[in-house]
Order: sequence, then C-alpha cells, then structure tokens
Amino acid sequence: MWDPSQYTRFRDERKRPFFELLSRVDVAAPTHVADLGCGTGDLTRVLAERWPGATVYGVDSSVEMVEEARRRPAPGSLRFEVGELAGWAPPVPLDVLVSNAALHWVPDHAALMARLVAKLSPNAVLAFQVPANFDAPSHRLVDEVKALPRFARVLEPVRRRPVETLETYESLLAGRGMTVDAWETTYLHLLPGEDAVLQWLLGTTLRPVLAALGEAERQAFLEELGPRLRDAYPAHARGTPFLFTRRFVVARRGT
Ligand SMILES: C[S@@+](CC[C@H](N)C(=O)[O-])C[C@H]1O[C@@H](n2cnc3c(N)ncnc32)[C@H](O)[C@@H]1O
Repeated sequence: MWDPSQYTRFRDERKRPFFELLSRVDVAAPTHVADLGCGTGDLTRVLAERWPGATVYGVDSSVEMVEEARRRPAPGSLRFEVGELAGWAPPVPLDVLVSNAALHWVPDHAALMARLVAKLSPNAVLAFQVPANFDAPSHRLVDEVKALPRFARVLEPVRRRPVETLETYESLLAGRGMTVDAWETTYLHLLPGEDAVLQWLLGTTLRPVLAALGEAERQAFLEELGPRLRDAYPAHARGTPFLFTRRFVVARRGT
C-alpha cells in the first residue's frame, strides 16, 4: 500500500518536524533506540549517527518500506524489521523510542501510550510527532469525495481521528510516571509542481483510500478530488501554499 518514491517526493517538508522533535530529546548515550513506523529509514539512520554506540531498530508494517530501508548499506548496529508498532516487542527495554508521523495510523491512543511506555527502560525518553490537520480543507475534501454515492459503498465511513490533544497526551503520560514537554507547530509549506496538494496526499492519506478501490474507480476518485483541491489550494508562481499543523510530544520517565 505504501509507495516509497511518492512519500519521499516532499522529503524536506516531511523531515523538518523530525529534526525539531529530536532537538528536544536530551539523552547522551542510550544503548537501545527504536524508530517505530520508520518508513524508508532515512531518519532512522540519523538516530544511528547521533548515537553510534546504540543498537537502533527501525520498525515498519510495510514490507515495501522496509525493503527500501534495507537497500542502502547500514552500520551493523542499525536493524530494520517488519512489524506492527504497537505490538512489536524490543529484545530489551528501550532508552529512546521515537515515532515520526506514524502513530496516527493506530487507533486508541490511550491504549497505545500504555503499550509504548511498557517498552521503555527507567529514565527513557518517548518522542513522537503526529499530524493534527484532520479538519483542514484537504481532509474535508477527501471525506466529501469518499461520501459520494459512487464511492461510499466501498469506502469506510469517515474514520474517527485517533490523534489526541496535547493536554490528553500530557495527562495519559503523566499518569504513567512521565514528565511531558508537548507543543504544536503550524507550517506554511509552499509546495512545488502541479496538483501539489494532491501529490502530497497521494504519499500518505490517500494510500488506504485508493487501495480499497478498483482501477476505474480510483481514476474516477482522483477526477473528483483533483479539481476540488485545485480550487481550495490555488497555485502561485512561488508554489502552492499548504498549511499543516503537527503535534509533538517528548516524555521522559521520572520527574
Ligand atoms: C508517513 S510515514 C512516516 C515514515 C517515517 N517515520 C518518516 O518520518 O519519514 C508513516 C509510516 O508508518 C508506517 N505505519 C503505519 N501504520 C503502522 C503500524 N501499525 N505499524 C508500523 N508501521 C506503521 C507506514 O508503513 C509508513 O511507513
């Protein structure tokens, strides 16, 4: 379902939040680190470079993504595995658990926080970033097209958004003995190219939607969505302005 080349099309816009997240992770010499929902593994490699003494695991449920991650040579301390991020069990407790733009694919974040904390060593840090743009025009328009009679039969009803508020994450993690630093950032991306917002969505949000449709329906879906997105996001010579809000949480075990 995942296509590494489409996802990496907007590489710079997608990797910046990872570095902003990592800049708040203050851990000197962890021995076991994991990146859950690691995708193509480019950012997992950054973790291995930052902590060369650590064993670093990159875990992703997509075979295509993990194959792509394994394509480039990696130090022996970096391992890529196919696995479900909630269910994956590290061989030893983790000192740093990072997840960038992946947890929103998993429902029930109260239960998920409990499962992630259970993977941690004492004094470990859990750091994650999730999109918080589910009410943006891009998502509303995808939902509008999904609800058209032609597609509504096949496509799931509008999904409940699993992402919680900053206060809820703080409360869930504080209740498990963590001290939390949480914030939200809205980026103004100026996306290059034609149909830029559609191209962005093809790398993420639209993957499961298109996977559920046959070839003809897929084409029809994009023909409905494309013009709506072009109206909502007019392109300029400088690019297509696209606002994107993300939530960040860095939680340390202990106080
Ligand atoms: C938007 S990409 C982010 C990839 C990478 N973290 C990055 O920042 O470039 C989301 C990734 O999460 C993975 N993913 C989604 N649901 C997952 C799950 N339940 N368990 C493991 N990986 C999952 C997808 O396969 C995809 O590679």
